[in-house]
Amino acid sequence: METVLSGIRPTGNLHLGNYFGALVNFVKMQEKNNCYFFIADWHSLTTHPDPKMLHVNVRNVLSEYLATGLDPEKSIIYLQSDIKEVAELYLLLNMHAYLGELEKTVSFKDKARKNPNNVNAGLLTYPVLQAADILIHRALKVPVGKDQEQHLEMTRNYAKRFNNKYGVDFFPEPTAYNFGDELIKIPGLDGSGKMGKSEGNCIYLIDDPKTIEKKVKKALTDQGPTEPNSVKPECIENLFTILRVVSKPETVAFFEEKWNTCEIRYGDLKKQLAEDVIAVTTPIRERILEIQADDNYLRKVVVEGAEKARESASKTMKEVRSIMGFKSF
Ligand code: TRP
Repeated sequence: METVLSGIRPTGNLHLGNYFGALVNFVKMQEKNNCYFFIADWHSLTTHPDPKMLHVNVRNVLSEYLATGLDPEKSIIYLQSDIKEVAELYLLLNMHAYLGELEKTVSFKDKARKNPNNVNAGLLTYPVLQAADILIHRALKVPVGKDQEQHLEMTRNYAKRFNNKYGVDFFPEPTAYNFGDELIKIPGLDGSGKMGKSEGNCIYLIDDPKTIEKKVKKALTDQGPTEPNSVKPECIENLFTILRVVSKPETVAFFEEKWNTCEIRYGDLKKQLAEDVIAVTTPIRERILEIQADDNYLRKVVVEGAEKARESASKTMKEVRSIMGFKSF
């Protein structure tokens, strides 16, 4: 049993890419590991979300996490801001985080370039808070995408630096949880790239059938094949990639054949794709709506999750304080 930890910023609804790219794997992961799944509400503050929306967003992600199969009986599911020990560790780690290295972080440079009027200290020290999230439970594995690898590397640096500075072997150096071949990247409906909320090319788990039909219908296609057995352009390959994930092998084979013989009708392909996406999302959507209507259940999950997360966090902090020289009178 390894300690695995994953965090998500509450900035929008979960989409098919989140589902097949991460959640399906998380559900399996929790069977064999000691998993922590938390909602990084403090991290979401770098962009100053509307206070009226913050709770709504947290509640949505939590409901969607639970609806897709994260199980509070098997995993520890909690909100970052419920664990004040994380803020304390963040403060302490900040003393070992140097301006030069923080300024060089790719995600920081990116955001600073895109929003030059909001280069706040929270943005600069975002990776330190992330390191605190991970080190607070002394997690060994973190399932991360490419864009988070540098943050994980920085976490290892802070762990090493802390251990060296104080002559201890306290923090383990966390590495990426590897899903291996199971990792599926879902492309967007706009012809290129992956599905992502900032790209506006998503099918959300909460989308109703009508919305899904409309979105799939609007997906980018080309003029159609002119030669048998030709290579598909990216926009068509993308539709097939989603089809392979949601449809039966016979269905995929049928449309492959139609493509290869230049008889494919994109209208038919899209109709089938929409139908099979709807078959996957409908039970999830119904479960999300059920959970969202159940305040008592949500409260219970959050309270119990916080209790368990705090237990591990306070144990770590007790040792960190002692290592750094805090003593009680
Ligand atoms: N930075 C992550 C993201 O944007 C979210 C996150 C915050 C996280 N703390 C974490 C991820 C700790 C993994 C571990 O996706």
